[in-house]
Parts: sequence; structure tokens; C-alpha cells
Amino acid sequence: MSDIKKIKDEILNKLNADLNIESINQIKSELFGKKGKISNSFKNLGSLPTEERKKFASDLNFVKDELQEKINKKIQEIEIKEINSKLQNEKVDVTLPERNIVQGKIHPVSQVIDELSSIFSEIGFSVEEGPDVENEHYNFTALNTPDNHPARDMHDTFYLDDKKELLLRTHTSPVQVRTMLKGKPPFKIIAPGRTYRSDSDQTHAPMFHQVEGLHIDKNVNMGHLKGCLTYFIKSFFEVDKIKMRFRPSHFPFTEPSAEVDIGYELKDGKIVIGEGDRWLEILGCGMVHPNVLKNVKINLDNYQGYAFGIGIDRLAMLKYGINDLRAFFETDYRWLNHFGFDPLDVPSNYRGLSR
Ligand code: PHE
Repeated sequence: MSDIKKIKDEILNKLNADLNIESINQIKSELFGKKGKISNSFKNLGSLPTEERKKFASDLNFVKDELQEKINKKIQEIEIKEINSKLQNEKVDVTLPERNIVQGKIHPVSQVIDELSSIFSEIGFSVEEGPDVENEHYNFTALNTPDNHPARDMHDTFYLDDKKELLLRTHTSPVQVRTMLKGKPPFKIIAPGRTYRSDSDQTHAPMFHQVEGLHIDKNVNMGHLKGCLTYFIKSFFEVDKIKMRFRPSHFPFTEPSAEVDIGYELKDGKIVIGEGDRWLEILGCGMVHPNVLKNVKINLDNYQGYAFGIGIDRLAMLKYGINDLRAFFETDYRWLNHFGFDPLDVPSNYRGLSR
């Protein structure tokens, strides 16, 4: 018994000091660990004579419970102390006025890219991307536009070096080449993105947006092209009836080539798509030129297809009644507030931008 009492007094003494959780845990294992003082005493029980053993066991249990309880109490005290000091230090001043939260808006161009991507994906197109800084080969040569071809001037290209090898892509058509070099036919892709030409007025900006379309398969023909564009324009403008006309045109990378106009009417200064007798050009298209397919090593006996390039900014202007293209890129917060879109899914922890 004297041994047990010694242990008890010693521990009670220790528990009186200013302890933290680590030192308490140390005391716990000193007592109840594998080789702890209490655990050892229990192990020794067996060697005692029966009479003594009973008494010793009951004393030991008593002390064990007492110490256990003391330790638990001490742990509770420490935890409460910690919480209190946290509360002291991290006090929230509930009287502070709320911060001004400004929810951002989605730019009409981004909105249109989202919309058209989802419309085309419904009929099996996947989305590809290419770089804005392109090489001359992908932008022109591989697209059947040789060195002296007037299209190179027509495009008013921004070249990035004296040798005219690197440039800002003048259209999204180089993504056709990149896609076809990368994989095996069939191909059914769209490629939305930024494009650049040295041009600026109310309807032209030096940086603008296009979406390229490419569909190559065994028997794809002009009829499929027309069906695809009709479906797209109806879905995009959310109308049942559209007026569309294919005008013969020329692009070095398609044969035959066409430009597509859609019919519209002005009603009280507003554009109404699908009625009236005004026409607006929105895209260029055609059957992919055999030379382009040869350049990317596609077997002409087996494969053919169509391509198109649509002006995204123009789609946005038409759908949302915006009449000056330059405003798109002026980053005027008031303009964006007016013409921008609310994001559909705002994460609940989103704090917005504060002004
Ligand atoms: N790349 C052409 C342009 O920018 C548009 C186009 C794309 C025409 C695909 C035909 C086929 O004007």
C-alpha cells in the first residue's frame, strides 16, 4: 500500500503544476502505459499471498480511478483555458459594417462561346484550341495559301518577326491543320478563340473572335454543311424560322467556298432575326480543299468534309443588340455591368471583388 500511496502523492503533486496537454499525456503514459506504474502494480498482483492480494487490488483500483478522474479534470481545465484564450484573441467585432461585395459579370463574348460550344456539342462536335501566336505555315501555307497569295495581304497580318515566320493568327483555321495532324479521321470539331488583323472601325477590331468548324468523314457534303449551320443559327438565335443565303465566295482552303448571310429586320431600332429583307454576313465556309487534306496526309479517296469560320463578336452584337464592336474590348466596367451576364453557379464561399 505504501507504494501505491507514494505513486498517488507523486502524481497529485505533478498535477498541481501548470501543465499543457503534452505533459498530461506524458503523466498518463507514466501511469497507464505498457510499463506504467499502475500497469506494473497490476502485473505484480499475482505474486502476492491471497489475503494481501484482495486488499491490494482494491486499493490499487481505487487509486487508479482517483488518478484517472483527476487527470480527466485537468485535461478539461486546460481545454477550457485554451478556448478562452482563443476567444480573447480572435474576437470578432460584429459592429463592423459589411464589406462592399461586387459580383463580377460574364463578358458577352465568353457567354456566346459557352452557348455555341454547348449547341455544337449536342450534335457531336468537340472543342479544340490552338495558340494565338501561330507560325506562317499553319496560318497560311498548309491552308493552301502560298507565299504570294493576295489573301496574305488581305488579312493585314500582324507579323512578329522580320522573316515573317511568326504571326498573330489571322483566323482560327490553323486549328484545322493542327487537329488533322494530331489525329486520324473522322474529325468533328469546333475551335473558338481570339484572332487578329490590322483593322479598326465600328465593326472591326484588331483583335476579334472566331469559331472554326471542321467535319471530315467518309461522305460529308455541302448538304451536311447547310444542315449543320441551319441548326446552329436557329438554336443560337432561339427562332424556328431563319432566312439564310449562301453566296459563292473564295477562300484558298475551301472549294467550293461560300459566305453565309442571315436575313433580319429592324423593328423599332431592334434587330429581329429571321424576318425582313436585310442581310448580314456572319460566316465563311466551304468544302475543305483537296490540297489542305493532302498537306495533312489524309487519303482523298476515303475522306472529305466541310469547314466554316463564324465571327463570334458579330453573333454577340446581333443577339444582344450591341452596336459598337470596339466597346467589347474597352474594359469599361459600366458597359460590362449593362451587357454582361450573371454567372449561373456562384460557389457559396465566393466573396466577389470588393471595391
Ligand atoms: N478563315 C476564314 C476567314 O477568316 C473563314 C473560313 C473558315 C472560310 C473555314 C472557310 C472555311 O475569313
